[in-house]
Amino acid sequence: MRKLLVIGIGAGNPDFMTVQAIDALNKADVFFVFDKGEPKGDLVRLRKDVCERFIRDRPYRFVSIEDPVRDPLPHGYKQGVRDWHRERALRLASQIAAEIDEDGCGAFLVWGDPSLYDSTLRLLDILRTDTSLAFDHDVIPGISAVQVLAARHRLVLNTIGGTVAVTTGRELAEHGFPGDADSIVVMLDRGDGLRAALREDVDIYWGAYLGTPNEILLSGRLRDIIDDIEQIRACEKDRHGWIMDTYLLRRTRAG
Ligand SMILES: C[S@@+](CC[C@H](N)C(=O)[O-])C[C@H]1O[C@@H](n2cnc3c(N)ncnc32)[C@H](O)[C@@H]1O
Repeated sequence: MRKLLVIGIGAGNPDFMTVQAIDALNKADVFFVFDKGEPKGDLVRLRKDVCERFIRDRPYRFVSIEDPVRDPLPHGYKQGVRDWHRERALRLASQIAAEIDEDGCGAFLVWGDPSLYDSTLRLLDILRTDTSLAFDHDVIPGISAVQVLAARHRLVLNTIGGTVAVTTGRELAEHGFPGDADSIVVMLDRGDGLRAALREDVDIYWGAYLGTPNEILLSGRLRDIIDDIEQIRACEKDRHGWIMDTYLLRRTRAG
């Protein structure tokens, strides 16, 4: 039976590869990547660098799949994402069938950890339920941007016995702070989450391009440093063509 490996490669630094991830790399004949076009081509290059560095004397190839365009909100955000996943899954199914022998092994190199804001496992669920493609799959965990953020700021994510919520900039902007959490990790923010967070008195621990040579860290009371963060975000996005940042918000009174 075809084997598919979903390998977490860590967020931003090839040194985050675990021994288990390196072993998994060395089993795959084919690596599938969704081509999102430049400027995110940087991220495809980083995956190729990981393979060059860690694969020992065995042949492998990359198969690029053109990423379908995501229709902006015809039926609401979540339905839009579901439709997009389905389209991606169908493109993937035909490539897997064409590129992997019945007893071959393919892999996906997932940025950070596959369990957090990544669609690869959902796509495989769709393939299993909606197509006749037979395969078995394993997941290899990776170091997520959240862990790197905490390490760089030398932080414990939770207060003593407290709740940590992980959410997106969009959710924060639309629904405010989640329930009883006094520590909120925010990912996938286009900037509106940060502005929305000003509704509360919070400290922020912010990190961009974590783990990479371009890493930037800032921390302090959000209302005091939001202008600096926004300015840095805009400049760096212009410079690199993309930005990835993650931050922890903590209610200022929380211990
Ligand atoms: C599609 S999600 C992928 C998350 C990934 N699976 C993980 O475990 O970190 C992309 C978001 O992750 C965060 N992220 C990923 N890599 C990052 C990095 N090197 N520095 C800062 N944030 C990062 C950002 O919030 C970005 O918008």
